[in-house]
Amino acid sequence: MDHPRKNFTPAAAFAAFGFACVSLGLYVALLPPEYLDRGSLPAGLWARAPDLSSAEILLRRVAENGTQGCHNVSTAAAVLFGIPRAEDGGEITLAADEVHKFWIVSYAADGSRRCSGGDFYETDISAGPTWKSRPPVTDLGDGSYLVELKVNGDFAGSYNFTVSLVYTNFHGLDHLPGKWAFKKEMFRLLINFTAGSRRRKHQLHTCAASDLRSTTSPPSQWQGRWSRTKFNSSCQLDKNGRYLCLDPAEQCDESQCSGAINSLESNGWVYSAHCKFRIWNSAEAWQCLDGKKLFFWGDSNHQDTVRNLLNFVLGHQLKFVDRIFVANFTNPANPSQVVRLASIFNGHPDPHHNFLGLGSLYVPQYRDFVRSVVRQGGMPDAVILNSGIHDGMNWKTMAEFLEAARNASVFWKDLLGDESKARVVFRSTVATGLGFRDLGSNPHKMEAFNSILGEELAKELGGLEHFMFVDDYDITFPWHYDFCCSDGAHFGQPPALKYWFDRIGHFYFVDLMLVHILLTAICS
Ligand SMILES: *[C@@H]1O[C@H](CO)[C@@H](O)[C@H](O)[C@H]1NC(C)=O
Ligand SMILES: *[C@@H]1O[C@H](CO)[C@@H](O)[C@H](O)[C@H]1NC(C)=O
Ligand SMILES: *[C@@H]1O[C@H](CO)[C@@H](O)[C@H](O)[C@H]1NC(C)=O
Ligand SMILES: *[C@@H]1O[C@H](CO)[C@@H](O)[C@H](O)[C@H]1NC(C)=O
Ligand SMILES: *[C@@H]1O[C@H](CO)[C@@H](O)[C@H](O)[C@H]1NC(C)=O
Ligand SMILES: *[C@@H]1O[C@H](CO)[C@@H](O)[C@H](O)[C@H]1NC(C)=O
Ligand SMILES: *[C@@H]1O[C@H](CO)[C@@H](O)[C@H](O)[C@H]1NC(C)=O
Repeated sequence: MDHPRKNFTPAAAFAAFGFACVSLGLYVALLPPEYLDRGSLPAGLWARAPDLSSAEILLRRVAENGTQGCHNVSTAAAVLFGIPRAEDGGEITLAADEVHKFWIVSYAADGSRRCSGGDFYETDISAGPTWKSRPPVTDLGDGSYLVELKVNGDFAGSYNFTVSLVYTNFHGLDHLPGKWAFKKEMFRLLINFTAGSRRRKHQLHTCAASDLRSTTSPPSQWQGRWSRTKFNSSCQLDKNGRYLCLDPAEQCDESQCSGAINSLESNGWVYSAHCKFRIWNSAEAWQCLDGKKLFFWGDSNHQDTVRNLLNFVLGHQLKFVDRIFVANFTNPANPSQVVRLASIFNGHPDPHHNFLGLGSLYVPQYRDFVRSVVRQGGMPDAVILNSGIHDGMNWKTMAEFLEAARNASVFWKDLLGDESKARVVFRSTVATGLGFRDLGSNPHKMEAFNSILGEELAKELGGLEHFMFVDDYDITFPWHYDFCCSDGAHFGQPPALKYWFDRIGHFYFVDLMLVHILLTAICS
């Protein structure tokens, strides 16, 4: 991505800031119009070297953190630049189908502009029942943050755009960040996206494994979205806590996915990215998986994913799967079809414990155990890897995590070999929410860890024929703000008509969507 900067001086930013005062969230009313034109950019102090990857840039900035006095100045306020002024009704009008770029600029309590990055801004763009996504944010390293906003013309209409500041000054990356959690909504804007009349209908192709292929580093943003064209407004949880809202024969809107939409049990919500995903039925999934060996290595979210695969797609009815297991599963509808599954927890070498993460691999017996399960009965056809939540609690510095990520990547390279035909999927760690925002595994750190581990794995495994990337951070992000869909870390807990934090029952479709995306990685 280019590093945009032109036409804008710090003096202008200060002048604008004078109008905005220190009040948060009042940007539109208070900024003079000349600073609100699209295209006006804050000046950067930190030139991004084009040959550095995003993880390298992050690590460099963290290493440089504290070397200038101004690094110790906390962010207290933020101003938005580049967004047009609101109409009388309080709504901003923007064209759909276009990428709108604008900038969040961080300021200190004394009104001075922050000199460096490390603020974690969470963004959300939602249209009530039809759209929910995370506009990507790029930390430009100089106290300004590029936001890119786009809505498809098929979904023109009114949106809420919100920005929350969760951590300032890299503090989400601290070992124990809780006391620094800022967690304030900074902006809430109403935007009316309008579609041009000569618009071409937006068409995505159906994702194939090649669309998930990643040879260098993972794409920094999938820029995916959850959207919904079909839903049942009177849908109720059934007695098992399931959302069976639509006709089982109801097909996806062809702009969003392909297959039977009801089997996501999402009341119509579906995730799509640079391509649309296939929703697999049981027969199609069995046809692909029959005779295959799948190996999962990751945290407790993998348990949910494996169980959801077995129950919602493959026709089983399991109450739970263990943190570590090796088992063969038969198709209940056709006993001649069998899939071999192995899953090993990596939160800790001892599955009764937690919070070692990739440090598990520093235990020789654990390394031997993982190797033996991977090799037992022949190499797997697919390997699905993830780590992050336990690492967030364990590692004291980014450098320690980097070393562990390198070590793990070399381990997998050695184990899978250069010639591996296995499809290897790095599935990034979820966007943690709720209580996890105050913990070592907060979403600021998970984003950083995903980028580091993704790049280290890609360096070692990117040469394989089938190394793929699935961005579960992006998939889960729009749903991490409340209890609708997770307990803060798990987005695929079994359905139950029971008390769930602040409500009865919960959605589990976010993980079920991941199951279907993984089937594309393994099967297409
Ligand atoms: C950072 O600021 C705090 C509070 O203003 C001060 O106590 C601390 O010594 C400063 N640290 C550095 C490294 O300048
Ligand atoms: C960044 O520097 C600030 C100020 O010196 C410090 O308070 C903070 O803990 C540092 N963050 C990290 C991740 O090193
Ligand atoms: C915007 O947010 C408000 C307050 O949460 C809500 O009442 C309204 O329905 C939202 N509008 C849209 C278009 O989502
Ligand atoms: C959004 O803008 C369009 C085109 O200007 C207008 O027709 C429509 O009424 C607006 N919608 C809202 C909710 O303001
Ligand atoms: C909508 O949901 C309700 C309650 O879950 C169900 O009874 C009804 O059949 C559903 N409507 C359709 C069209 O599927
Ligand atoms: C699974 O099936 C394979 C043959 O396909 C067999 O070698 C292996 O022992 C079985 N594993 C288990 C745990 O039953
Ligand atoms: C990873 O750590 C293990 C255990 O400490 C060690 O034996 C191995 O050499 C390390 N590998 C790399 C590539 O650093």
